[in-house]
Amino acid sequence: MSVTALHQVSPAPQGARLSIDKIGKVFTGPSGGSVKAIDGVTLNVEPGEFLAIVGPSGCGKSTLLQVIAGLMSPSSGAVRLGAQDVTGEPAHMVYLFQQYGKSLLPWMSVAENVMFSFRHRIVMTRSAARARCDEYLAMVGLLDFADHYPWQLSGGMQQRVAIARALAAEPKVLLMDEPFSSVDALTRLDLHALILDLWTAKRFTAVLVTHDVDEAIFLADRVAVLTHRPASISEVIDTNLPRPRLSIETRESPNFLALRHRLLAHLLARPGGAAHDAR
Ligand SMILES: Nc1ncnc2c1ncn2[C@@H]1O[C@H](COP(=O)(O)OP(=O)(O)OP(=O)(O)O)[C@@H](O)[C@H]1O
Ligand SMILES: [Mg+2]
Repeated sequence: MSVTALHQVSPAPQGARLSIDKIGKVFTGPSGGSVKAIDGVTLNVEPGEFLAIVGPSGCGKSTLLQVIAGLMSPSSGAVRLGAQDVTGEPAHMVYLFQQYGKSLLPWMSVAENVMFSFRHRIVMTRSAARARCDEYLAMVGLLDFADHYPWQLSGGMQQRVAIARALAAEPKVLLMDEPFSSVDALTRLDLHALILDLWTAKRFTAVLVTHDVDEAIFLADRVAVLTHRPASISEVIDTNLPRPRLSIETRESPNFLALRHRLLAHLLARPGGAAHDAR
């Protein structure tokens, strides 16, 4: 799936509890062989919480997020949003992908892209839709670019449009799969601050999959660390860093550095062996 998946929307943006209960996923290959991607992952994400999931490459992070989103059915276990089982693409969740270039529709203007997220779901006048669109474009600092086309914007600006589009649907849950990994390092820091501002304003439940340990610690309330494939929960760490988080000061704080050390040591440990260092 290469476009931002836009599901049904809730009238009022507020987080919902997400229960991920003993999820397992086995893929069957064309020749009958099987790949076990996830092995019994249980996680509860509280309403309005920001959870990050980190794990080694190929361990099953994207698979887990797609199961949570209802884009893929699990082989075992269940996902619930509030009291409802997630058995297909559910209402109230939005998925933000890494490849913003593919998630925006190039023949639509920035404003049309943003309105696309909710106009076919909610009956509203064009002016009301435009007002909601402009509210979210203003939040990401792109109101002046409403009539531009995505290809007229830089990569970081396109990802801000994708964020505005996802949030204009006013989801209860925002699921993000490496959404900042295609932009340069400074733009990434800028997008971190932006996503935290938006999360603070709207308090949706956020689940972020990332390779980037610093990003996970900076953004999240808790960081779930996955094992090598098949993914299971290795540990869940409370970041316990004060909010609001500040781009430079938070990253330099002793608590941040201690968490970073702990997570990197964990992730760089070879399966069944010692940590490896580049020599
Ligand atoms: N549709 C599929 N069919 C068969 N196998 C799949 C499918 N999707 C994923 N896999 C396998 O499941 C395992 C986990 O893949 P997944 O993409 O979830 O990992 P990941 O942790 O997101 O990787 P990365 O860090 O590279 O993004 C891999 O071995 C992959 O080959
Ligand atoms: Mg992935």
